[in-house]
Amino acid sequence: MGEANDSSAVIHCRGVRKHFGDVRAVDGLDLEIPPRTCFGLLGPNGAGKTTTISMLVGLERQDQGEVEVLGRSWDRDARGIRQRIGVQLQETQLLEKLSVAELVRLFRCFYGRGRPVEEILERVGLREKAGARYSTLSGGQKQRLALGCALVGDPELLFLDEPTTGLDPQARRRVWEIVEELRSAGRSVLLTTHYMDEAERLCDRIVVIDHGKAIADGTPSELIGLLGASGLVELILAEQDGERAEALCRDLPAVVRCQREGSRIRLHTDDTRRVLPRLVEKLEEAGVAYKDLHTHRPTLEDVFVHLTGRSLRDG
Ligand SMILES: Nc1ncnc2c1ncn2[C@@H]1O[C@H](COP(=O)(O)OP(=O)(O)OP(=O)(O)O)[C@@H](O)[C@H]1O
Ligand SMILES: [Mg+2]
Repeated sequence: MGEANDSSAVIHCRGVRKHFGDVRAVDGLDLEIPPRTCFGLLGPNGAGKTTTISMLVGLERQDQGEVEVLGRSWDRDARGIRQRIGVQLQETQLLEKLSVAELVRLFRCFYGRGRPVEEILERVGLREKAGARYSTLSGGQKQRLALGCALVGDPELLFLDEPTTGLDPQARRRVWEIVEELRSAGRSVLLTTHYMDEAERLCDRIVVIDHGKAIADGTPSELIGLLGASGLVELILAEQDGERAEALCRDLPAVVRCQREGSRIRLHTDDTRRVLPRLVEKLEEAGVAYKDLHTHRPTLEDVFVHLTGRSLRDG
């Protein structure tokens, strides 16, 4: 039986809830992640991604529901799970006085098997920093070190909470390559990111969560298909008086959906060529000034805005 079923899922969550006082950080989440998958957990700030990961990696206990990782539960087999996973948290504080190589070596000791320290330093681009103390590293270097510590046990399942936030473009591409290498080696990865291009490139499957609940899941192309429109027209107004322009956009023929966020209006359509000239004409007639007008094929970012009503990135 090569088929992925419940028992072969690398992560299985059913009805998971976690409250912090009045805050329902995770509110009845179901997840089923098959092996050999790069799985993306997406959602706006405060959606419950880090809290979900904390429960999956055994740092927090759920208030309700089932959590199984690699077919085991944290209550019964914490040690067994820990040996087979690697974790890069959103924020990591490591021992300030230890050097980069010493820290990776320390993490290597936690695992019965793993990769050589030298290889890990090379992989995350920190070979020249092997002797540098943790306290002297830049933010991006600390993050790469945290990734190295997550990789040193040669994990079957890797958890990466925003692994590329704050990295320079070259370091970000290096992280992509590492994720792609792991996936081709048959490993599984669960990652969160606020970069939709990254999710679209890396993830086989995605679940979008908001307010601690899954609001959509599927492959990137299935999610893009949810928009039900093949084109997008984006209009950036010169002023904030978006309501009038929004009403005008809604009245155009061939517009499937129209969304406004402040001075930005997005029109979903299957007929961009028809919408565009009419839109320009109507805007001119009404004397609405705009800074930018462009069209593109829908992306995951558009799906995200459609589902949550918010852009992913702050600001
Ligand atoms: N230890 C805690 N005590 C109190 N509230 C918490 C705690 N941890 C998380 N929360 C709250 O739970 C909610 C979910 O937080 P979480 O960190 O899981 O979000 P996130 O999806 O990871 O967001 P981000 O994209 O900003 O990292 C938020 O409202 C947050 O304030
Ligand atoms: Mg988070």
